[in-house]
Amino acid sequence: MGIPQPAFYIFKCEQAAPPGMPKPSCVTDDNKGLYQYTAKKLMMEGVMMTAPIVRTSCMNRCAQGPVMLIEPGHTMYVDLTEEKIDRIIAEHIVGGKVVEEYVIAEEFWDEPMSTEAARKLMGK
Ligand code: FES
Repeated sequence: MGIPQPAFYIFKCEQAAPPGMPKPSCVTDDNKGLYQYTAKKLMMEGVMMTAPIVRTSCMNRCAQGPVMLIEPGHTMYVDLTEEKIDRIIAEHIVGGKVVEEYVIAEEFWDEPMSTEAARKLMGK
């Protein structure tokens, strides 16, 4: 028997805009503890081994930040707070049910772009 795979991967955007940059970003002075909060919560719930959290840079949904993406399922959660993270861990990670009210609006998260369409956009 081998080492089991995780059931989930949690990708947390940890991008902070440089001082003076007008563009929004996922990490600000008001929310910079969310990564550690999530990691601690996953440990407290006993699910860190099956739902590791991974720091990422910008996932191009900055105006909806702070954001995190959960795989499998391509589920993008937005406008995160500690309270929302508590529910996401309890209901999605432990319970297996997406918290629909925290998922990004469809207009900002349309169908995946095919590699063919991406290549065409880049003139390939
Ligand atoms: S800074 Fe987080 S999605 Fe861009």
